[in-house]
Amino acid sequence: MILVTGGAGFIGANFVHSWLERTGEALVNLDKLTYAGNLANLAALRGDVRHVFVQGEIGDRERVGALLDTYRPRAVIHFAAESHVDRSISGPGEFIQTNVVGTFHLLERVRDYWSRLPETAAEGPNRQDFRFLQVSTDEVFGTLSPTDPPFAESNPFLPNSPYAASKAASDHLIRAWHHTFDLPVLTTHCSNNYGPYQFPEKLIPLIIHNALAGKPLPIYGDGLQVRDWLYVEDHCQAIMRVLEAGQKGETYNIGGWNEQPNMDVVRIICSVLDRLHPRADGRGYAEQITFVKDRPGHDRRYAIDAGKIERMLGWKPAETFDSGILKTVRWYLDHAEWVHGVTSGAYRQWVQRQYGDASFPV
Ligand code: NAD
Ligand code: TYD
Repeated sequence: MILVTGGAGFIGANFVHSWLERTGEALVNLDKLTYAGNLANLAALRGDVRHVFVQGEIGDRERVGALLDTYRPRAVIHFAAESHVDRSISGPGEFIQTNVVGTFHLLERVRDYWSRLPETAAEGPNRQDFRFLQVSTDEVFGTLSPTDPPFAESNPFLPNSPYAASKAASDHLIRAWHHTFDLPVLTTHCSNNYGPYQFPEKLIPLIIHNALAGKPLPIYGDGLQVRDWLYVEDHCQAIMRVLEAGQKGETYNIGGWNEQPNMDVVRIICSVLDRLHPRADGRGYAEQITFVKDRPGHDRRYAIDAGKIERMLGWKPAETFDSGILKTVRWYLDHAEWVHGVTSGAYRQWVQRQYGDASFPV
């Protein structure tokens, strides 16, 4: 049994599906269900007794303590966070509350639970084998110039956005809890993800959604900012590998060796849509591209050196950007109801109709 936080969000939900498919090991999924967390992402698991969904806060000490004592996980994978840079600019408070304060409370509950486990055990959780895996981002390293080498694990933390600063703060907590209390932690720093179930406020799903809705495709500034894109299932596989074989206290960068300027990403999406779902008027989706005001403090370039995880743990991404983006566009075309649900806010009513209650299958 493992505990996953934030397993109703984009990466968390992909991870939950992948974990159950590949390992069959049961998990408890603790998620607050913010705007970014959707039970619709987990609908296929309805009735699956290996998945226990609990709606709740990572900062709720009593709830988390009770969950740990009840389900006795052998590991915690911590995805839950406020995750969107633009929202962290317009309202940073929630980012500090969840990413920093929430992570602190979670860590303290986990430390208490871990300290009461047997040192070793033939079966069941034990202190030696227990792991707390912090899912973090490359944004903690700040920004790169076009000629800088990609981020290595040894790069200093130089966060620029409130989101990045809140993740860096929580990464520091994880590090300190290991150093001071010996809590067996692992930290991963991943580049930008894309794939199914991503809320259409992030670049790739937003562009697909707006293109299909006939809306403008907003490009911040000159569109030459670079991100290093990784298909979400590759990220999930990397996390499983780190959990299985990573060294306690180590950090691992995860990336797809796939740097792309935003403008190119948007053009690629437009051409895939032109092929799979041409506009009714016969014109190209690229005509909807619109340059808008830049994001304040916009980081110019992120790029990950994923050499350590490849050398030490033998992980490499399976998808290329071409294959991943094709799968992603197809997924959004096939899941118009999901997109409509999460963007209209109707998903809560939809869940209510489907399940009658926010928690299932308990
Ligand atoms: P997301 O915003 O899609 O999902 C976050 C989930 O956390 C949601 O289900 C939400 O309901 C839940 N949540 C938020 N606050 C909570 C709280 N206080 N208590 C319990 N649950 C809460 O995010 P995502 O894109 O899936 O990212 C998951 C993790 O991966 C985050 O920690 C993020 O920093 C990290 N990450 C994301 C990316 C990316 O490209 N999306 C890249 C690298 C790292
Ligand atoms: P985003 O998906 O928000 O991820 P992050 O800011 O964490 O990297 O944005 C990816 C890039 O796309 C980033 O450089 C900002 C840019 N962007 C746009 O140009 N237009 C948009 O509408 C959005 C949401 C992002």
